[in-house]
Amino acid sequence: MQKNILIGVTGGIAAYKVVEVASRLKKSGANVKIIMTKHATEFVSPRTFQEITNNAVSVEMFGDAANFIHVEHISLADWADFMLIAPATANFLAKTAHGIADDLLTTTILAFDKKILVCPSMNTKMFENPATQANLSTLKARGIKILEPASGNLACGTSGKGRLPEPTEICAEIEKILSEEKILSGKKILVTAGGTVEAIDPVRYIGNRSSGRMGFEIAKVAVNFGAEVVLISGKSELEPPKNLEFIKVEAATEMREAILKHFDSVDSVIMSAAVADYRIKTPSAQKIKKSDENLTLELVKNPDILKELGGLKKNQILIGFAAETQNILEYANKKLVEKNLNFIVANDVTAEGAGFGVSTNIASIIWRNGRVESFEKMSKAALAEKIIERVANLLNR
Ligand code: PMT
Repeated sequence: MQKNILIGVTGGIAAYKVVEVASRLKKSGANVKIIMTKHATEFVSPRTFQEITNNAVSVEMFGDAANFIHVEHISLADWADFMLIAPATANFLAKTAHGIADDLLTTTILAFDKKILVCPSMNTKMFENPATQANLSTLKARGIKILEPASGNLACGTSGKGRLPEPTEICAEIEKILSEEKILSGKKILVTAGGTVEAIDPVRYIGNRSSGRMGFEIAKVAVNFGAEVVLISGKSELEPPKNLEFIKVEAATEMREAILKHFDSVDSVIMSAAVADYRIKTPSAQKIKKSDENLTLELVKNPDILKELGGLKKNQILIGFAAETQNILEYANKKLVEKNLNFIVANDVTAEGAGFGVSTNIASIIWRNGRVESFEKMSKAALAEKIIERVANLLNR
């Protein structure tokens, strides 16, 4: 396994099992680095991990900065392809669920935007406590994978759910997560994002509230899953993701042209862009001067890009979004059929924590056979993963 794996060890008795996890990962060819919380060092010596991994173990937030290109937590987060947290205490889960960064591990995790596997291990009552369960749900909704604890005798003298799974099981789960990443290798995916900009004059335009976040997250996940990705984006202030072809456009007609240029060579198109349905008939070449009269702008219809693709498609998997404010499923279903899509992602853009601008979304996926999968509020990154997994299943059938 040619990966850089960063293991976070928190203060639980099961920390000793993670020595074997690190050893197995190292033997499989991974580069392994360890961050320990101070409490973890009460259970296993940093020296043990250092000997096993051949790398210095990080504990202090303000250690020796000389060895790092950036500050330590950023360097470690940049270096790692994957993070494992084992054992993860209730305290760690609570802090991470709330974005608290008061030691090197919790700070590093905040700076880490790749796959994370968390292995909770604690007393059964602590695990089942609604606070811990709520924190786990929060982490899951952010796309963090959780390996459920096993049942059996616990160090506290009781018996029940809370044991850290065996090292072989943890390593198998890591293997599975990392191999999922390749489910799109050899595939080319076109993703659209952001809002189109329809010029009124050189200064003003008609736009919408799309930030581009949903589409950017989809493109990032597709890259992580091994696809060659073309991201065509309308207006967005976000930094373009890495390792893909990024094409910036303004008007819907420009977006259409860019999409049609690539359409024949892609396996799937995922249209999360908010495309304006109308544009100004004749944008003014000069800034329109204010006068005492009211101003009337004449709008003409923009091409429905996705509908056109639905007519042109051969084997491509076509995914649309439906941004609705009422009768969500009914209107989305109509678009699914009219645009000849494989499935559509419907979001109620008036719901709190959903739609434009925010980092979360609440969506339902509607399939051609009428099946509806409704998801709870989750990060756009987590929703992107759900969408890409389904696209990969369709492509690999
Ligand atoms: O960018 P964010 O801030 O993260 O917000 C995300 C989002 C709300 C923009 C996203 O989740 C979303 O809903 N995108 C679709 C927006 C939209 O234009 O929806 P629609 O219901 O008007 O269009 C239906 C589908 O047809 C969409 O896939 C759209 O891209 C496409 N379309 C629409 C009009 C048009 N002229 N051509 C199109 O191809």
